[in-house]
Amino acid sequence: MTKAGVGLAAVVLLAVLIFFAVSAWSRQPAIAKPSVQPINFPHNVHVQSYKIDCQYCHADARRSEYAGLPSVERCMGCHKIVAADKPEIKKLAEYAGKQEPIPWTRVFKVPEFTYFPHKAHVRASVACQTCHGPVETMTTVAATTGPSLANDMLNLVGFKPAPPALTMGWCVECHRRENVTNKRQAPLDCVTCHH
Ligand code: HEC
Ligand code: HEC
Ligand code: HEC
Ligand code: HEC
Ligand code: HEC
Repeated sequence: MTKAGVGLAAVVLLAVLIFFAVSAWSRQPAIAKPSVQPINFPHNVHVQSYKIDCQYCHADARRSEYAGLPSVERCMGCHKIVAADKPEIKKLAEYAGKQEPIPWTRVFKVPEFTYFPHKAHVRASVACQTCHGPVETMTTVAATTGPSLANDMLNLVGFKPAPPALTMGWCVECHRRENVTNKRQAPLDCVTCHH
């Protein structure tokens, strides 16, 4: 091949690699996006300053697939009195008055074809923060998760960066590790997570 031919082949190869990386990345199958919430709920205030347990509000986590969100009534248990004059709490009282649930925007999400149960993880004592980050410090829950272009490029050139949270590699890597180090039986077969 001529020198120009080799150059052209390299450019084409690079273009193909970039195309695959970008297309894998842009599908964004699993996400945790920061979002504008109807009420600006500060986790840090509730968890750190007032020592409210995660599972007081996310009470379904230990017994079901979902962690669940607290009802308006649960919030009003405190906020009928606490900070009742603050604008965000007035919004809260409005939902309570109309007996409407608060339309929270979902942050963490795996695709529909994936089965993720909280119960098994909470009972195996995997801390919420292992998967969700330091929520107790957050004024707005958010995280950087899902496929990342930088990671895909590193994989392409032979490095093995840790898989980002909420990707399949992340689930499977922890399951392998837990099975070896803690003698657990976390599933590695496709049908347990996909059915
Ligand atoms: C006083 C009640 C309360 C406490 C205590 C609380 N949360 Fe929350 N949590 C909420 C509410 C309300 C939302 C929905 C609004 C939002 O996303 O910020 C939420 C949202 C979340 C989300 C995002 C859910 C989604 O949409 O994907 C995660 C993750 C979470 N909480 C984890 C935790 C963890 C971990 C703790 C303990 C360190 C905790 N929470 C303590 C009320 C609470
Ligand atoms: C166990 C009691 C308790 C519960 C339950 C609770 N909160 Fe609070 N919340 C507090 C306290 C205490 C503060 C701090 C008030 C202050 O600093 O004056 C606070 C502060 C807030 C603030 C900040 C107010 C401001 O502007 O300074 C918001 C917003 C809020 N809570 C929303 C909620 C929502 C929504 C829920 C239900 C998901 C909830 N809270 C459940 C006790 C509670
Ligand atoms: C092993 C990782 C892992 C652990 C541990 C974990 N979560 Fe989750 N959580 C996830 C994933 C993955 C999702 C998205 C699930 C989906 O889309 O079906 C999620 C979703 C959520 C949601 C929003 C949807 C729902 O289920 O209500 C909340 C709230 C939440 N988690 C809170 C918690 C709390 C509180 C704890 C600790 C008691 C916890 N999580 C422990 C991985 C985890
Ligand atoms: C421990 C749970 C778990 C196991 C076991 C598992 N998966 Fe997944 N899989 C996931 C999650 C979570 C996603 C979504 C996030 C992502 O795309 O990385 C996913 C995504 C996928 C996708 C879509 C990828 C894409 O880019 O859209 C395919 C295809 C797939 N899995 C096939 C398989 C096959 C085949 C097996 C068995 C060899 C398997 N999975 C085992 C959790 C799992
Ligand atoms: C930080 C470690 C960790 C991560 C990350 C993790 N898991 Fe697990 N998973 C576990 C452990 C530990 C168990 C419990 C095994 C046992 O009971 O012995 C488990 C169990 C399960 C089970 C079996 C439930 C049952 O009822 O037996 C499923 C399904 C599962 N995980 C799916 C997922 C999916 C999907 C993801 C990614 C979105 C994920 N896990 C991420 C540690 C993890």
